Amino acid sequence: MLAFSHVSKTYGETVGAGLTALHDVSFQVPSGRRVAIVGRSGSGKSTLLHLAAGIDLPTRGKVEVLGKDLSSFSDRDRTLLRRNEIGLVFQFFHLLPHLPVRENVALPALVAGGKPRDFEPRVLELLDRVSLADRAGDPVSNLSGGEMQRVAICRALLRRPRLILADEPTGNLDDENSWLVLELMLELVTREKATLLYVTHSRELAGLADETWRIHSGVLDAA
Ligand SMILES: Nc1ncnc2c1ncn2[C@@H]1O[C@H](COP(=O)(O)OP(=O)(O)O)[C@@H](O)[C@H]1O
Ligand SMILES: [Mg+2]
Repeated sequence: MLAFSHVSKTYGETVGAGLTALHDVSFQVPSGRRVAIVGRSGSGKSTLLHLAAGIDLPTRGKVEVLGKDLSSFSDRDRTLLRRNEIGLVFQFFHLLPHLPVRENVALPALVAGGKPRDFEPRVLELLDRVSLADRAGDPVSNLSGGEMQRVAICRALLRRPRLILADEPTGNLDDENSWLVLELMLELVTREKATLLYVTHSRELAGLADETWRIHSGVLDAA
């Protein structure tokens, strides 16, 4: 589903002079697996997810999603791959606060040119799974942080992407909500037969995944 082979990422002008955020990272995430990467702030977690999503390209090495080498794609094709096959979840939710919950969940379908009535049942089904169906008409700004992240997870899953990438999905939540949100995300991903890679700085929350890898100063220990 997702494979890195000998991936390095250096920010800055030239290799050697810049800041190397990832060093020779290799791993494979098979279809259906739920993997957590745990590492401190600045260890390269977001850089790794950006490369996996094709938001950025590696300085060296190869990133493959669904068996396709992302460097062989045009910017446009990488955007389409991200839109069609990948769901993203962020620490700060990235929702539109003044819009109702249901429109926030529906956004990826609207962006892809869908008609609202075609995906309304799907929106409500997902909201029901995270116990927010009764909040569908409320503006997102009325929700708690944990509720906002549950909305963001529904949005990420809306178009049945095969790969979900989550960057510190509980980084802005208290302990109780962190567990609740992560358990819901794992459950939904499994039900949807998607593959999940999430990063966190919490070992406990990483422990909920099928596999936990560590990253330290851009070096991944996937043992
Ligand atoms: N766009 C960028 N330009 C320059 N340096 C960056 C950029 N993004 C991240 N970095 C640096 O790369 C390293 C890894 O950052 P990041 O991947 O964001 O770590 P994490 O998500 O684990 O906190 C850090 O030293 C950070 O300052
Ligand atoms: Mg980060």
